[in-house]
Amino acid sequence: MDKKTVIITGANKGLGYELSRQMAGMHYRVIMIGRREQELMSSAERISDQGADVYPLIIDIGNDDSIDKGMEILNDITSNVDVLINNAAILEDRGSELLHVDMDLIHKMININFFGALKMIRSTVHLMREGGRIINFSSGAGSFGEGGSMWAPVYGITKTMINSLTFHLASELSERGISINALCPGWVKTEMGGNEAPRSVEEGVQTALWLANDAPIQYTGKFFRDKKEIPW
Ligand SMILES: NC(=O)c1ccc[n+]([C@@H]2O[C@H](COP(=O)([O-])OP(=O)(O)OC[C@H]3O[C@@H](n4cnc5c(N)ncnc54)[C@H](OP(=O)(O)O)[C@@H]3O)[C@@H](O)[C@H]2O)c1
Repeated sequence: MDKKTVIITGANKGLGYELSRQMAGMHYRVIMIGRREQELMSSAERISDQGADVYPLIIDIGNDDSIDKGMEILNDITSNVDVLINNAAILEDRGSELLHVDMDLIHKMININFFGALKMIRSTVHLMREGGRIINFSSGAGSFGEGGSMWAPVYGITKTMINSLTFHLASELSERGISINALCPGWVKTEMGGNEAPRSVEEGVQTALWLANDAPIQYTGKFFRDKKEIPW
């Protein structure tokens, strides 16, 4: 069976690592993206020790030079990307108020959580063919339809931006036969989610795996949790 290629950002830990691990066992070649060399290499080694085809690629998605360098390498190692999973994000304003949170932090979070995902899409879309899939990790924190949430306002805004990006790019990408969807993984036990979260990473990646493998390709420009559409 021909291998498919998936790019996963933020692959060294948490949901990105679990997705890398599971997709490597599903006949994917997994390009694992992370910004910290040592952490990324040891995470990739843990998966490749089991005989899987993984390629660690260092990119800080918040840094243009780093993205450009990474893309030079990417263009050398593959001519085709089947799935792009924008998973990487930061949450550094928990419990803060938008009136008082440091402006530099707002720029940093928008730069990584929003521009990072947009730049990854713009930099890789030329490698995607008809049937390609883009999956953006969002959060219920970015949804107005679920009543909105106040516990991390900048994080919430960046996830609303990801939702809007998903909605707007869907029609542009449909001309190329590429789908793009956003998802909320639920509240998951990771460094970001914390120990009290009720979901395991295995549960947290289920909707992303479904969007990558099984969801009808006609599903595009939508927002999902537990494989069901949820309101923006
Ligand atoms: N966990 C939850 O309950 C939950 C709920 C809703 C949505 N989500 C979303 O799910 C996704 C994954 O979350 P998680 O819980 O797995 O978070 P996590 O454990 O904090 O992992 C985040 C990953 O993103 C990477 N990352 C951050 N900034 C980066 C940058 N500039 N360049 C490259 N990689 C970068 C981190 O790398 P470092 O190790 O170098 O920091 C790490 O690998 C995020 O988009 C998050 O917003 C999570």
